[in-house]
Amino acid sequence: MHILLTGGAGFIGSNFVHFVLRNRPQCTLTNLDSLTYSGNLENLTAAENNPRYRFVKGDICDDALVAKLIEDCDAIVHMAAESHVDRSILDSKPFVISNVIGTQTLLDAARKAKGGAWLKKGRFVYVSTDEVYGSLPLEDKSALFTEETPLQTNSPYSASKAGGDMLARAYHHTFHMDVVTTRCSNNFGPYQFPEKVIPLFVTNLIEGKQVPLYGDGKNVRDWLHVDDHCEAVLTALEKGKAGEVYNVGGNNERSNLELTHSILKIMGFGPEMIRPVADRPGHDRRYAIDASKIKRELGWTPTRSAWPHALEDTIRWYKDNAQWWQRVKSGAYRAYYEQQYSKR
Ligand code: NAD
Ligand code: DAU
Repeated sequence: MHILLTGGAGFIGSNFVHFVLRNRPQCTLTNLDSLTYSGNLENLTAAENNPRYRFVKGDICDDALVAKLIEDCDAIVHMAAESHVDRSILDSKPFVISNVIGTQTLLDAARKAKGGAWLKKGRFVYVSTDEVYGSLPLEDKSALFTEETPLQTNSPYSASKAGGDMLARAYHHTFHMDVVTTRCSNNFGPYQFPEKVIPLFVTNLIEGKQVPLYGDGKNVRDWLHVDDHCEAVLTALEKGKAGEVYNVGGNNERSNLELTHSILKIMGFGPEMIRPVADRPGHDRRYAIDASKIKRELGWTPTRSAWPHALEDTIRWYKDNAQWWQRVKSGAYRAYYEQQYSKR
């Protein structure tokens, strides 16, 4: 199978490239990525000479390029996106362009590819997010997001992801495109851009800096190791039913305060390293996924997210790969970080 992967130079995308090359010897991949601030070819050094992999630098909004690449592929795994909530609050336009227009461009090119013949045999996997469901209350621990939970987006990021998600649904409904959608909870692991909470906090601590905890720290996220997410996306690609949505999550809910204390403990620091800062505007209180459908129907189960070992391994990766994040943090990220925290 030849997969056209979008966003393969980012965190999840680069892990997906390595995961597929390791686990599916019959698969080949084309990685289409425009290398925004979060796209990094250093994540892919180990793959770059593999004959089953090729990189194409380009934008998912480029109709002609996308049309050409789809001609050769059996399936599209669409992950390219603007992915950071805080950035979407500062400037939402790039989110609408990449996450909505970019998704529409891919779907429409897939619809027209090979004079309409691709539509009859190709599969389109849309990598969505649990954030499209909005926020759960802290008080009711039994409440979970299911695939039937209405979409109720709260940030420009999640609204733009829901735009792509609904377009993917519409292309299945209207054109009978073979679309499968995954909605996953928070990922952690190697190569995550250090604007997201785990790599930001870990790398700050290695640098001897405090960690900026938003609001009261009681917001809850459901943490899943990136390789478990990659396996879920591959499972959806190989076994998912056309038109279906599959939630993906680790049953691993932690408040940000708990997460921060775990990181501090593993790294040998005390609570004085926490710097309470103003809350994120519109900050979703709790995400928690019911992933029973993908487990029951497709046989997926997370095997790499066990806490705290998976967190310890991830922290070790950032300690062992300081050059990777030091280069990232000294570049484009610096200006964003200063803008983000200068007023807090
Ligand atoms: P990331 O920001 O690390 O990577 C995004 C990649 O997309 C980058 O390589 C970037 O260069 C590329 N890209 C962005 N706009 C593009 C465009 N217009 N054309 C081509 N390439 C473009 O993001 P991530 O955390 O790896 O997330 C990947 C996907 O998974 C996103 O769709 C995100 O919504 C979804 N997701 C992420 C998480 C998570 O916890 N990180 C959880 C659930 C779903
Ligand atoms: O749930 C899936 C989503 O998870 C993905 O769709 C997004 O692409 C991904 O970025 C992530 O979104 P979050 O907003 O949950 O992740 P982030 O790492 O930015 O924040 C996690 C929690 O930590 C959140 O409650 C905000 C808090 N936080 C974050 C940062 C960056 C802090 O307290 N301080 C910080 O500096």
